[in-house]
Amino acid sequence: MTKKQLTITQPDDWHLHLRDGEALNSVAPFSARQFARAIIMPNLDPPVTTVVQAVEYLDEILAAVDGTDFEPLMTLYLTDNTSPDEIIAARKSCFIKGLKLYPAGATTNSDAGVTDISNCYGALEEMQRSGLPLLVHGEVTTSDIDIFDREKLFIDRTLQPLTERFPGLKIVFEHITTKEAADFVLQSNNNIAATITPQHLLFNRNALFRGGLQPHHYCLPVLKRDLHQQALLAIIRSGSHKFFLGTDSAPHARLKKESPCGCAGIFSAHAAIEIYTSIFEQQDCLENLEAFASFNGPDFYGLPHNSKTITLIKEDWQIPDEYALGNESLVPFLAGQTMSWKISEQESQGTSETEEP
Ligand code: NCD
Ligand code: ZN
Repeated sequence: MTKKQLTITQPDDWHLHLRDGEALNSVAPFSARQFARAIIMPNLDPPVTTVVQAVEYLDEILAAVDGTDFEPLMTLYLTDNTSPDEIIAARKSCFIKGLKLYPAGATTNSDAGVTDISNCYGALEEMQRSGLPLLVHGEVTTSDIDIFDREKLFIDRTLQPLTERFPGLKIVFEHITTKEAADFVLQSNNNIAATITPQHLLFNRNALFRGGLQPHHYCLPVLKRDLHQQALLAIIRSGSHKFFLGTDSAPHARLKKESPCGCAGIFSAHAAIEIYTSIFEQQDCLENLEAFASFNGPDFYGLPHNSKTITLIKEDWQIPDEYALGNESLVPFLAGQTMSWKISEQESQGTSETEEP
């Protein structure tokens, strides 16, 4: 049976980079078109480290999505100096939903990140007490460690000990890329969950070099070998409630990607739910899409499911070669490729599905 139409509860994006300024105005509407809510990453320059800065950033995002119901769920950037009082203020704010741990030097705008997790024990203690989740970029940063092993070593060196020291701390292992990360989350208690990006489901590291160097497939954590991609695909087929949608859509201008020292980050917000839908269809597990995209995330964060629905229809359309990013150019994920699912423009009601033999 081939599905022609699929209606699901409106999804959320549990890991999104929206940037600020003109870039924000360019990319935010893409997320608001499909997602009801998104966890907004705080790695601006300078980073969003305080509740006061998060309020300012929230206002800027709301202005960029004016006229929509899109709800930004804000995060603070954890530093060596984040105080327990800042955590209490974040909890009281109600609109801050987590703290993001970037090991210093791990990725874009992570220089102000954490140099040693033991510097954060006071803040983590307070997060555990107040139920505010820790969102983790899980890679070790020491340059002697092979880039393909950084996630696995982070589990052994940092994450496993952290879960032992703070067993009640809620942790989202962001954008997991390895079998080891998937296994770690599966074996952990329900305080540990993970997001999975479209690129880590669709590709393995060969995609970085297919026919020549492919800067638009470069993100961090970097794509891994096929066995890890297969492990992530097995996760979505399993329907485990510990994993949910997080695009890690991270726009960089074309010339910052196609450069002698190209930036890490893939922009996928232009077609995120359509791409995930194709992947779930291809894996013959479309019935798992709604929980992954719309239920598992809010259940973990203790938030309600969305009340609206979206309808996807089977219809070919072509992803443009580029979009605008302020007055620069942005190459979207899967640029120029044909997508087979499309969001129906008509506001949908109910949860019907139609199939053709
Ligand atoms: C992200 C960015 O550009 O902000 N880049 C990326 O490759 N994913 C940062 C991050 O999430 O690592
Ligand atoms: Zn990210």
